[in-house]
Amino acid sequence: MKNLKAIAIIAAAAATMCSCGPKDPGLKDAYKNYFKIGVAVTGRNIADSLTSEMILKEFNSITAENCMKPGELHPAPGVWNFEEADKIADFCRANGIKMRGHNLVWHSQFATWMFQAHDENGNPIVERDEKGDTVFVEQRVFGRRRPQGQPGQAPQFQPGQMPQFETVMVPKYVAASKEEFYDSLHAHINTVVNRYKDVIYCWDVVNEAMSDANNLEATYEESFRKSQAYQLCGDEFIKNAFIWAHEADPNAGLFYNDYSAWTPSKRTYIYNMVKKLQSEGAPITGIGMQGHYNIYDNPTLEDFETAIKMYLELVDDLQITEFDIRINEEAGGQLQFSRGEGQVYTEEIQAKQQQKYADLFEILRKYKNNISCVTFWNVNDSVSWLGANNFPLLFDKDNQRKAVYYTVRDFKNQK
Ligand code: GLA
Repeated sequence: MKNLKAIAIIAAAAATMCSCGPKDPGLKDAYKNYFKIGVAVTGRNIADSLTSEMILKEFNSITAENCMKPGELHPAPGVWNFEEADKIADFCRANGIKMRGHNLVWHSQFATWMFQAHDENGNPIVERDEKGDTVFVEQRVFGRRRPQGQPGQAPQFQPGQMPQFETVMVPKYVAASKEEFYDSLHAHINTVVNRYKDVIYCWDVVNEAMSDANNLEATYEESFRKSQAYQLCGDEFIKNAFIWAHEADPNAGLFYNDYSAWTPSKRTYIYNMVKKLQSEGAPITGIGMQGHYNIYDNPTLEDFETAIKMYLELVDDLQITEFDIRINEEAGGQLQFSRGEGQVYTEEIQAKQQQKYADLFEILRKYKNNISCVTFWNVNDSVSWLGANNFPLLFDKDNQRKAVYYTVRDFKNQK
């Protein structure tokens, strides 16, 4: 009797161990012999106990979704918003998880004050007309006309309604010289990289510098996005950003990161730019393919693999940095997308998404020796930047694993 009781206790203990052990691995466990599996998070995600529990079970690399971008972290000269970034970094430190830093230079969510001349008090200098009045100019801004949400609720889009660009009048500032811009950027990179270098193992040093021209005949100059940084400095700002990031943390992986990085045009632009700047001394050690894909031909498997092979001629380290697969035909990083209102996640669509995730992960596993991490962009469908109705991720709006989760995790059962 005593023995039976002991056996029952041992069996119960074994069963418990199994359910949290090998029988129910998280994504990070299933991929431990391949690459890290990461996720982009907000301060809110990690403050929620159920979500943070899920993050710790499934992922072993973390990217801050927004709060480490220059415009968020450093909105004005001498003004730093470290709070949310520090919270996420502390969460990672406490749980022994390393982070990807995102990002040091981007054309969007950037510290645009760096392009303005400042007086000795750090105030931007406005241009004045002959009467001494401030000169105003038009500026195109994104998203002001988003529908208003109820207090505490995210804005709800109506079917067919899209976020809009609009034109506003803003004061015209005296432009910074290239040297002033470089001084600000250098100091920014130095401060941020040093602050987090105990917990950040790689940085997206430059994000989205290449053009969407989709033209294989483009010249080297035409292959660049005509961002403010490019207009002021040409491709030199990219080289300098890498040099300054390396100077601040010689051990960090330093990535060039972009969307549509699989397309014949963009992969050629990226390849040529990285090759040239490396030859000029830019320490670019990794390329990040963002991966905002769809369930159709974006990307095609052949082009995706060709891009991987091309990049591996230049760097030893690749990552998918912002993985999601939406269910409509849009893709990439452009901001004017529909949020999938009214879209239904039918069995057919779900099967297509499962196939796409399975095919892409199969290719990624093949290159495991040179892929250090695959990061999902957001925790679940409801907090995806694409909206819950694009169903892009592995967890549903209630943080539950979707069927496609098992497709990705249990790949060993598929072949
Ligand atoms: C780009 C950026 C990300 C994020 C997404 C949209 O891909 O690199 O930081 O802003 O757009 O959420």
